[in-house]
Formats: sequence, C-alpha cells, structure tokens
Amino acid sequence: MTFADQIKQGIPSTLPGKLTDLGSDNPAPKRKAILTTDEKQLALRNALRYFPQEWHSELSTEFLEELNTDGRIYMRRFKPNYKIYARPIQEYPCQTKQAAAIMLMIQNNLDPNIAQHPDELITYGGNGAVFQNWAQYLVTMQYLSEMTEVQTLHMYSGHPMGLFPSSPSAPRVIVTNGMMIPNYSKPDDWERYNALGVTQYGQMTAGSYMYIGPQGIVHGTTITVINAFRKILENHESPRGKVFLTAGLGGMSGAQPKAGNICECITVCAEVNPHAANKRYEQGWVDVLIDSIDELTARVKQAITNKEIVSIAFIGNVVEVWEAFYLEEIMVHVGSDQTSLHNPWAGGYYPSDLSYEESNRLMVSNPDLFKAKVQETLIKHTNLINQHTARGTYFFDYGNAFLLESSRAGADILADNGIDFKYPSYVQDILGPMCFDYGFGPFRWVCASGDASDLDLTDKIACEVLESLRVNATPDISQQFDDNIKWIKEAKANRLVVGSQARILYADSQGRIEIAKAFNQAVKDGKLNGPVILGRDHHDVSGTDSPYRETSNIYDGSKFTADMAIHNVIGDSFRGATWVSIHNGGGVGWGEVINGGFGMLIDGSEDANQRLESMLFYDVNNGISRRSWARNQGAIDAIKREMERTKSLKVTLPNLVDDSVLDRLDFV
Ligand SMILES: NC(=O)c1ccc[n+]([C@@H]2O[C@H](COP(=O)([O-])OP(=O)(O)OC[C@H]3O[C@@H](n4cnc5c(N)ncnc54)[C@H](O)[C@@H]3O)[C@@H](O)[C@H]2O)c1
Repeated sequence: MTFADQIKQGIPSTLPGKLTDLGSDNPAPKRKAILTTDEKQLALRNALRYFPQEWHSELSTEFLEELNTDGRIYMRRFKPNYKIYARPIQEYPCQTKQAAAIMLMIQNNLDPNIAQHPDELITYGGNGAVFQNWAQYLVTMQYLSEMTEVQTLHMYSGHPMGLFPSSPSAPRVIVTNGMMIPNYSKPDDWERYNALGVTQYGQMTAGSYMYIGPQGIVHGTTITVINAFRKILENHESPRGKVFLTAGLGGMSGAQPKAGNICECITVCAEVNPHAANKRYEQGWVDVLIDSIDELTARVKQAITNKEIVSIAFIGNVVEVWEAFYLEEIMVHVGSDQTSLHNPWAGGYYPSDLSYEESNRLMVSNPDLFKAKVQETLIKHTNLINQHTARGTYFFDYGNAFLLESSRAGADILADNGIDFKYPSYVQDILGPMCFDYGFGPFRWVCASGDASDLDLTDKIACEVLESLRVNATPDISQQFDDNIKWIKEAKANRLVVGSQARILYADSQGRIEIAKAFNQAVKDGKLNGPVILGRDHHDVSGTDSPYRETSNIYDGSKFTADMAIHNVIGDSFRGATWVSIHNGGGVGWGEVINGGFGMLIDGSEDANQRLESMLFYDVNNGISRRSWARNQGAIDAIKREMERTKSLKVTLPNLVDDSVLDRLDFV
C-alpha cells in the first residue's frame, strides 16, 4: 500500500500484528501507576472504542499490558510502517491544501529525528504529546485527507471528535489540549485523566503541530543569553572567556550550548542522562563531553585563560558543577537552569545523591521518597546559586519552574519582601521588557515544497524586509532589528534545519505582516516552488498567559488571569487562521499556563493576503494592548505608535496614578 493509501485508510481493515521491535532507543519514561482497578477497566473501555468488537479480546490483553508496563495505552501495534517525516505538501492525499499543510506539520512533529519519544507520540518536554495513541493519529490523518474547505475538524486533546460543516473562511482545524475544569488541574489529574485516555499534555508546539525542531529554541536562547550578558557587561564588552553555567541537554535545553557558541561565551551544561548528552554531541551541538568533575574544572579554567568560545557538556548532576565551581572559585557570569521542573516528580529533575538509573527506579517504586530527594536537592541547588550570586553571578529562571519548585521545596529563594523570588525570570528581565512589550516574538515559517532553495529565498526576503524596516525603527526597538538581521544572515551557516524547511526570527506586528506579504507575493510570482506555512511558538506576546513565564512582567495583578490567551485563539480563528490551538499546560506545567497558537497556509492568493494581514495584526496587538493596560511603558509606546499607523485601532489606554495620591491615604 502506498503512503497516500494508508493515510486514506485510517484504522486498517485487518488487525495489524503485534509490534515486537519498536525501533526507538529512547522510549518515554514509565508513567505513574495511578489508576484503580475500576479506572483501569474504564481506560481499556475507552481505548477499545476506536476498534471493531471482534478485535477487543486480543487488544484488551495487549492494552492492559501497555497500561501496566508504561502507565499509558499507546496502541503501539497501530504505528504505521511508512517513514514519518515532513514530506512535501503534494505527497499528501487531500481535498484542500490547507489540510495537507496540517498533515505535513503533524508528520514533522512525529519524525523520529525530531520527536523525543516518537513511539509514544511525544515531541518534546518529556510529555508534550501530539496524540495520546496511534488510533487517534490514524483517524485524524484520514479525516484530514477527506476534509473539504467547508468542513472543520475538532480535536479534543488528540482525539478527533469529527468533521463538522463550516465555511471556507473558518479554520480547518480547532485544537484543544488538556482543557480542564480548573479544580481538576493538579499534576495528578493529568496522570489520571491522561491514563484514562481523555486528555493530554500538548506542551506548546507539540499538540499544535508547530514544532520545528531545536532551531526555534536556539534562536530564543541566543536572544536571551546575549541580552543576559548585556545586563552585566559594560561598554559593549564581549562575553568571550566568560562562563554561562546551566543544565539540561534535552528537547529545548539542548539548544543552550549552540546558543552559547553563537553568543561567543564559554558554556557549561550539565546533563544527567548520558543518552541525551551523547545525542547533542553527535549532532555537533556541543563541542566537548566530560564526565569527571576534576577534568571539567581544569578544562573551564583553561578556556577562561584562553578566552575560548567553547561549549562543554558535563555528564552528571548540575549541583555537582555549581559546588565544584564555588570551591574552585570559577566565576560564573551568567547562570540558569533548564531541567524539566515543570514535571518534577516524573523524571524532569534528578536528585544529586542518586545515579540516573537509581532515580528512574525510585520515582516508580517509591514516589514519595523520590519527591523528598528532589526537594532536598533543590534546596542544595538554591543554596549554591545564592553563594555564587553573592560573588556577582547574574542568575535567571529559564521558565522551567525552577524558582517555583524551589520555593515549594522550602529553599531560600524568596526576596526580602517574602512574596517575590530573589531572581528574575528571563521574561521578567529580558524577553518581556525588551521584546514582548513591543510585539517582538517568535514568528516562524515552513516552506511546504520541502525545497532548501525555497528556504534560502525566504531568508533573503525576510532579511530585506527587516533591513528596510530598520531604517525608520525607533531607538527602543533598533536592537531587536539588529539582532534578528544578524541572525537571519547567519541562519543557514548555523545549519539548524532538522526536518521541515523551517525558519524562525523575532519580529513585531509590522515586520511579521510585511515578511508574510512578501512571501505570498513570491508564491504568486512562482519564485517559490510551493506555498508557505506561517506560525509561531506559543511563547510569544499574546498567545500565552503564564504568570511565571510569558506574562511574568505583568504587574497589575492580572497575570493570574487567562483572558488574553482565550481572546487570542478566538480572535485568530475568525480572522483567517488555517488552524488554531489552545492548551492547558506547556513549559511550566499542568494547571500553570494557558497557551495558544495558530498555523496559516499562504498560497499566493489575494485571500491569503487579506487573512495574513488581519490575523497577524490581531495576533500581536492583542498582547501589546494587554501589556499596555498593565502599564508597561514599552507597550504603551508601541500601541500608541500602532494607533497612529492604523486608524481603525482604538485601544483603551491607562491613566497612570501618581504615587503621592496613594501615599497620603490611610489604608489600615
Ligand atoms: N529553552 C527555552 O527557551 C525554554 C523556555 C521556557 C521554558 N523552558 C523549559 O526548560 C525545561 C527543559 O525543557 P526540555 O525540552 O529541554 O526538557 P527535557 O526534559 O527534554 O530536558 C531536560 C533535561 O534535564 C536533565 N536533567 C534533569 N535533572 C537534572 C539535573 N539535576 N542535573 C543535570 N541534568 C538534569 C534531564 O535528564 C533532561 O535531559 C522545561 O521545563 C521547559 O519548559 C525552556
């Protein structure tokens, strides 16, 4: 059977044989065994409803085995045998190219070269799922192959609820992931309801089909690390010979050494999982692998003396490195952490006094003891960071819930007022005030032809647009243009494309619209060999409400609300998005964030031109308005400028209250 025939078939008409060899050497960790016997029955009943009754007896035994062994039912026997990767758009069977574009992006998220645990349909972050099981994948692909431009597919946490009549201007797919009744959004609720097969953790771009491999994260990390150094280095001093110490070489964290090299510093990145460290080394993303702490300190001292640009992976616990560098008096200029503390009890963070294997066993055999060990390590970890910052280290939280989980562990992490943390998050200090408040965020695109030459041309077009906008850019946003012009010029040489022909850069509303229009024109003129899919990371100006990350620099009390993300997804959906998504959970954990995104196919038509202009404008300015209403000065300036440019935009502006008005009142 051809690839196209298999897609059109959906669930096969004859029961496939049981899979013996999965092919992946990096399966998802065993999940917590949380279901009661009654709930296990319910999980099986739920799983079996995808299949004809005559298969139930055989499949029930196998699914129970999966549930007992893995804590989830992945239905691995239904994994198709064709190669999963971002094939060019013309290879997908379809009634509309919009659906083919979505299929391309799903395939990309499940490509074994990209996905973290491809057999378990996990793209990144340990638990960022595209689907809960292979039946959902098969049915979804089949629906997409049949859908017309007057239908919309509704996806409930990986489950394709069905194709519903709609209109050509409606999105082709609406995705929700992990949306819960708020009181049922504790970490164990994810374990339970995911094991039952009724919800999933979509992370940000995993369950929304917009992951482009590590490139997105390399770019964001580069912008963050270079600006972190700018905060402490004076007179444009170079980061050469200065140390950036961090942890994690996983899905996103693996970008840190590469970004460090682009920033020209010495990067030391600890990773407890040798498999993850080796993978990054083999990919050329980290220069040196070291597993002895003495060797590490000696090598770092040498790099400091020689002012080297080098990235070093230490195979071991990051706490060991903080400790050794303190004792050896190695100055850490910039420090952070990218262990997966959004998922602290199930493999996101490893305690320091256990081996990697011992930890993996303990988290399943004795979760309470494992939790206690994690918390002990977090306290030690925090104490060491405090000692380093007393020596001048600039430490920031990398949106992985490090500060949050350390405070929950009882570590000495609160500021003197007992409310705030001692250290800023990278959004509070860097991305929020420097980028998001002005609308600069992670715009990305994928060349649907799959041709590298198309990517080259789009790079060139994007660079020309940025250079022309830079001419009249105000001083408050000039640095953003300069950083992104440099990035796009070097992007090809950095060889960051894995999977689809994709690119990312930070641009504001005007930049995103002008770049997209220029792409649409190039498609129309036949200069590009195929259409272009636009999207963005959810980690952006408007799409995500996350009080400890994207919206951590909102100080009017509204950072614990999620109105902005909901307005965004609704607003984008009727302004022309090809698909939209809204998720509970994401980088910082289940119940801690609501994040949304979109995808849009531009095909050279006038219709695409209108859609992109209307939707990209709202997609950025929604967030700037909210940031302006929260009294963020950069956002007030940015939205005033936009109102000058766009007469039909009328945003409610805040009146600032003079401190003296409140100071004279008696509040007790
Ligand atoms: N890169 C970004 O821009 C960004 C932005 C926001 C949030 N984050 C957050 O960063 C975290 C990491 O993301 P990821 O995709 O890389 O996750 P991941 O799970 O793929 O990788 C984390 C890595 O940390 C390692 N690790 C855990 N504990 C350790 C310890 N004590 N010492 C050394 N290594 C340890 C794990 O083995 C794992 O490989 C997530 O919480 C994510 O949400 C990243």
